[in-house]
Amino acid sequence: MRKPLIAANWKMHMTVPETRGFFSEFLPLVKGVDDVDIVVAPPFTSLHAAKEAVQGSNVSISGQNLFWEEKGAYTGEISPIMLRDIGCEYVIIGHSERRQYFGETDETVNKRIHAAINAGLKPIICVGETLEEREKGETFNVLSRQITAGLKDVRFDDLVIAYEPVWAIGTGKTATPEMAEEAHLFIRKELSNLLGDTAEEIRILYGGSVKPENVASLMAMENVDGGLVGGASLKPESFSKIVRFREQN
Ligand code: PGA
Repeated sequence: MRKPLIAANWKMHMTVPETRGFFSEFLPLVKGVDDVDIVVAPPFTSLHAAKEAVQGSNVSISGQNLFWEEKGAYTGEISPIMLRDIGCEYVIIGHSERRQYFGETDETVNKRIHAAINAGLKPIICVGETLEEREKGETFNVLSRQITAGLKDVRFDDLVIAYEPVWAIGTGKTATPEMAEEAHLFIRKELSNLLGDTAEEIRILYGGSVKPENVASLMAMENVDGGLVGGASLKPESFSKIVRFREQN
């Protein structure tokens, strides 16, 4: 059985006071939830405040990106060791916004994944097609390439995949549960080609306009094991409802 994982991707939102305010409202709303792993990925500047706030709770902290070197002359970058040091358990890698705006490629995704694993971080690896690719019928080719190249030489199964169709991110358009399931099933087959039977244990999250209103129907799909939530994770109430997806209809 795969334990569901619901992760918040705050992107470039939330100052330190906003982060503290969020957790003081959010933690009571998810207190006692132990059948879902809850992860929050604040911006780097709020990681310390977030870690302090979640101490002793059921919430884990994630980075939104990392650089693959341990240390050195890389102005503006953050290393895997720094993320571990500040208390991160997870790190998001290869988000489509990084691919789109910051030159991320399957090769750099692969380097980041290796660096994260070597530092003891669990990577949340994002894959997904653009609208143009979907309309051209290239969805599966794109997913296959992103997974095969992104996971090159990775022999580690404590990782998480997030399927995020680019056309559904921040647009209010969600993939239907059936579309998500089709993609997730394909991703699981690709994972089993690379990693064998352990692919059954890997959690595949859906991301792209997940909200309290659509989370239950997405989570009802056999291969949808959680969500990576952007906009709806910025408010304690809506994110807590997503975490408590079993209570939504
Ligand atoms: P969204 O973002 O929920 O605002 O669509 C999801 C993501 O980009 O991870």
